[in-house]
Amino acid sequence: MSKETLSVTDDRNGKTYSLPIEKGTVRAMDLRQIKTGPDDFGIMSYDPAFMNTASCRSAVTFIDGDRGILRYRGYPIEELAEHCTFLEVAYLLLHGELPSPAELKDWVYEITHHTMLHENVKKFIDGFHYDAHPMGMLVSTLAALSTFYPESKNVLDARVRRQQILRLIGKVPTIAAYAYRHSLGLPYVYPDNELSYTENFMNMLWKKTELKYLSNRTLARALDVLFILHADHEQNCSANTMRCVGSSQADPYLAAAAAASALAGPLHGGANEEVLKMLAEIGTKENIPGYIKQVKEGKFKLMGFGHRVYKNYDPRAKILKRTAEEVFQVTGRNPKLDIAIELERIALEDEYFVKRKLYPNVDFYSGIIYQAMGFRPEMFTVMFAIPRMAGWLAQWEELLQDPEQKISRPRQVFTGKDVRHLEQARPATAAD
Ligand SMILES: CC(C)(COP(=O)(O)OP(=O)(O)OC[C@H]1O[C@@H](n2cnc3c(N)ncnc32)[C@H](O)[C@@H]1OP(=O)(O)O)[C@@H](O)C(=O)NCCC(=O)NCCS
Repeated sequence: MSKETLSVTDDRNGKTYSLPIEKGTVRAMDLRQIKTGPDDFGIMSYDPAFMNTASCRSAVTFIDGDRGILRYRGYPIEELAEHCTFLEVAYLLLHGELPSPAELKDWVYEITHHTMLHENVKKFIDGFHYDAHPMGMLVSTLAALSTFYPESKNVLDARVRRQQILRLIGKVPTIAAYAYRHSLGLPYVYPDNELSYTENFMNMLWKKTELKYLSNRTLARALDVLFILHADHEQNCSANTMRCVGSSQADPYLAAAAAASALAGPLHGGANEEVLKMLAEIGTKENIPGYIKQVKEGKFKLMGFGHRVYKNYDPRAKILKRTAEEVFQVTGRNPKLDIAIELERIALEDEYFVKRKLYPNVDFYSGIIYQAMGFRPEMFTVMFAIPRMAGWLAQWEELLQDPEQKISRPRQVFTGKDVRHLEQARPATAAD
């Protein structure tokens, strides 16, 4: 039993309970012993939107929102972004340690050899309208993969899980690239096994008639950095969805499709697309004060600002500001950056934002970079989903190996009608 305890006195009957405190938490189930009598269900905790509830123990990602710290498996995000490739980071998230050179070689080989999609997937994607949102195409195709790999439902078999992890990390860029090319009416490009993860992705996106696609190194590295920054973010809305669906032992394609659906919302990964729409709407620096005034009046939110956990500058946004400058050396400057920087400057001096600790988050700058690289805003959230697949799968693996986890099923506080009967609502008629 933990030495730290919390004493709780039930003022209804004067009884006192001693609840163990472990790692700064009390177990919600310990509240159930607090009852007024044998028929009492016991106290529950009520926490809409999980504002103060830990749903799991996790060793994957650490965030200190007040100090603006993000670490994967203990390593600061700044160091990983500076020195690693995305696939090294994906390995780290899933295995807990960085790979040795030999392990990395095998890992890269295995992921690279799982990038192809079954030919029928092309027909499936062909069925979408030319203007279908790429997130809809991604979500549906992820779910459809479940039908191609029926063995994936054996989620308690570690070897089967491993196989699906390789497939999902390998295939998600291919699905994304197919969705992108479908919306442009271009033929699909097969993966090229001689290229790195990000170079191959660029090849599948942008190859035209040349025999071999040669990517720009700065842009390929920028994509790697973007992918590293987006790879995981502890128990966010989509990771929680992955865990929730995974807890029913649905196969990982279905769970990942659900997680990607959660990511698509404008308050989560969809925010990067919204930021670009917002910057376009603002148009010029002169319009910023007027726009901020409307935000403060509650007319709309400043997209790309604020975070449930960060109450300080998002460390990923800091890195992205630098990456943006590097990308612009190649692509030319995206004029939206100047509006974004000025918007940030004005907002960070404004009492409304200061008081609420609202800072730019990762989505504030990522879209500007993606746009400079040539993506339309509809693709931005797909670009987020590609690397986040590694994080979702790390969370899913952890869930399935955690003996404390069961099917995810919250309680409710019932606020509806007490029992009532039809005969009161429909008094008997003459015909009855
Ligand atoms: C991320 C987000 C959903 C977090 O929400 P949350 O933790 O539930 O925070 P709240 O909505 O309770 O916000 C607290 C206060 O700040 C305000 N606020 C939060 N984000 C804001 C924003 N982007 N613009 C203006 N005001 C904002 C809220 O209106 C609220 O004000 P109030 O106390 O006067 O009611 C929210 O900040 C948001 O919608 N941001 C814009 C979307 C976005 O960028 N999402 C990407 C996240 S990585």
